[in-house]
Amino acid sequence: MRGCFITLEGGEGVGKSTNLDFVRAHLTAAGKTVRVSREPGGTALGERIRGLLLDRHETGMTADTELLLMFAARAQHLSEVIRPALERGEWVLCDRFTDATYAYQGGGRGLPAERIAILEQWTQDGLRPDLTLLLDAPLDVGHGRAGARGGEADRFEREERAFFERVRARYLQTAREEPARCRVIDAARPLAEVQAQLREILDAFLRNR
Ligand SMILES: Nc1ncnc2c1ncn2[C@@H]1O[C@H](COP(=O)(O)OP(=O)(O)O)[C@@H](O)[C@H]1O
Ligand SMILES: [Mg+2]
Repeated sequence: MRGCFITLEGGEGVGKSTNLDFVRAHLTAAGKTVRVSREPGGTALGERIRGLLLDRHETGMTADTELLLMFAARAQHLSEVIRPALERGEWVLCDRFTDATYAYQGGGRGLPAERIAILEQWTQDGLRPDLTLLLDAPLDVGHGRAGARGGEADRFEREERAFFERVRARYLQTAREEPARCRVIDAARPLAEVQAQLREILDAFLRNR
């Protein structure tokens, strides 16, 4: 039987990486073989593309180039990792996927959703996540946490506040448009509460598989 494809989405510092481990552990305890990955990246070539996308010295990159690089990395990821794992019956858990493209390149950069949809159709050929966990928090919460993480700001982290407000709004719009796939989690709450809600969502999802 084909495995399930679960994605974690949300802005900077909302807790995607932190909760990825929690979700992985919960699914593993439920007897699933879990393959964890991330975007952009997830393959050797994809990680090199990620390097280009995040490099703050790449100051001249156009929004279209950024969009195409995202889908170039995704095409490789789907072919090398995601599709084969799902076909083997593994569960794939991914830190960001195409919802992030609609949020960042669509909402953030202002590229038309129709253009993204063409690439989505072309690259994914109908393959979409079975469940998306959207961690949502006000900007100040996420950015405060991400700031505490330290390190130099990447090409996205250097964007202005309005950019991230558009990203957040687009994520929430996607969740409203696709309630069957997307669950919104209030990620501003303490980690124990966030994870209690994640556990409930995952248990309900597992019961239907
Ligand atoms: N619910 C929470 N409450 C408090 N701190 C949190 C919570 N979730 C995550 N953190 C902390 O916030 C920081 C950013 O989390 P991280 O998982 O790296 O975010 P992301 O991967 O979404 O950018 C980490 O230091 C993490 O420990
Ligand atoms: Mg992270």
